[in-house]
Amino acid sequence: MQYKPLGASGIEASVVAAGTWVTGGGAAWNGVDDEESLRALDAAFDHGVNFVDTAPAYGWGHSEEIVGKAIKGKRDKIVVATKCGMWWEDARGSFHIHLDGKDTYISLRPDTIAVEVENSLRRLGTDYIDLYQTHWPAKEPENTPIEDTVAALMQLKDAGKVRAIGVCNLSIPQLEAYCAAGDIVSDQFRYSMLYREPEADVLPWCDAHNLATLTYMSLEQGLLTGKIGLDRTFKEDEFRSNEDWNPWFKQVNRRKVLAMLDGWKDLTEKYACTLVQLVIAWTAAQSGVTHVLCGMRTAEQAKQNAGAGSIDLAPEDCARMREDAMTLGDPE
Ligand SMILES: NC(=O)c1ccc[n+]([C@@H]2O[C@H](COP(=O)([O-])OP(=O)(O)OC[C@H]3O[C@@H](n4cnc5c(N)ncnc54)[C@H](OP(=O)(O)O)[C@@H]3O)[C@@H](O)[C@H]2O)c1
Repeated sequence: MQYKPLGASGIEASVVAAGTWVTGGGAAWNGVDDEESLRALDAAFDHGVNFVDTAPAYGWGHSEEIVGKAIKGKRDKIVVATKCGMWWEDARGSFHIHLDGKDTYISLRPDTIAVEVENSLRRLGTDYIDLYQTHWPAKEPENTPIEDTVAALMQLKDAGKVRAIGVCNLSIPQLEAYCAAGDIVSDQFRYSMLYREPEADVLPWCDAHNLATLTYMSLEQGLLTGKIGLDRTFKEDEFRSNEDWNPWFKQVNRRKVLAMLDGWKDLTEKYACTLVQLVIAWTAAQSGVTHVLCGMRTAEQAKQNAGAGSIDLAPEDCARMREDAMTLGDPE
C-alpha cells in the first residue's frame, strides 16, 4: 500500500481509502449487513488501508457508528474523515432532498456545525476527527458566507476537535474562496475513468495548490468491477436504479462498459489482479489523484480493493485504458 500526505496537514493516509456510504445502509443501498461491514473495515485495515471516509448523512449516523466500532482499540492508527453540512434535525439551512422519510438541508451555519461535530465525535467514539470536510457547498436561500463556515471549522481545529479541514464538491471559484479563508488540505469529488470532468479544472487546481484529492464513485458504484451484468436489476428506491443520475447504468451503456472491461483480460493477467483492482490502480495513477475512496460491502471486496494499492500500472497500459474509456464517448 502507498501512503500520501493529506495536503499540508502532516497526516499520511493510504492511497486506497475505505468509503462507507453503503455502510450506512438504508433503502438507497437495499440494506446492509452490519456484521459484514465490520468485517470489511477490519479486512481493509488488515491489508494496509488506514484511511476511512464517512459522513453523518450515510444512514443518518449509522455509518459513523459502524466506523466508531471498527476503529475501537486502534484509533491512533486510523485516519478518520467525516463531514458536516447535511442537516436534518430542523429546517435550518437550504432544503436539499427528501430521503428515507427525512427532509434534509444543506447547512454550513456555524451553529449547526457546532452541533454536528459533537454528534459525529459521539458516534465515532473519539475525541478528535482527523479530516473534517464540508459535504456540499452552501446554496440559496441560506447561503452561509464561506468565511463564516471556515472560521467555525478553524475554531474546531484550534480546539483540537479536528486535525485538518477538507471540502467536497466545489467549483474552482468556491475552492479559491475556501482556501483564502483558512487552512484547507483536501478536496473530495466524483471522478472515474467514465467521469473525467475534474481533469479539466479541479484536479490540476488541487495539484497546483497542494490539496489532497479524494475521488469518489471511482468504481461507478460497482459497474466498473464488471460484476453488474445486463440482468442485474435494482429496486426503485435504490440509488443505482436512477439512470438519470447515473446514465452508465442504462442497459445500452452498461453493454458498452462490460465490453470494454472484457477487453482487459490480458491486463488482469499481466498484473495478476482483478478488474476492480485494475480500475482502482488506474484511478490512483492519474495526474493529481492522491486518494481513491472505494465503497465496500464485504470483507472480500475490502481486501481486493486494498490490494490495488500496491499495483503500479505501466504508462502504456494506463494510456490504453484511457483510450478505451474515451472511445465509449458520453453515455446515451
Ligand atoms: N462527498 C460526497 O459527496 C460523496 C458522494 C459519494 C460518495 N462519497 C464517498 O466515496 C465513497 C465511494 O463511493 P461509492 O461508495 O458511492 O461508490 P464506489 O466506490 O464507486 O462503489 C461502491 C460499490 O462498488 C461495489 N464494490 C466495491 N468494491 C468491490 C469489489 N472489490 N468487488 C465487487 N464489487 C465491489 C460494491 O457494490 P455492491 O453494493 O453491489 O456490493 C460497493 O457498494 C463512498 O463510500 C463515500 O465514502 C462521497
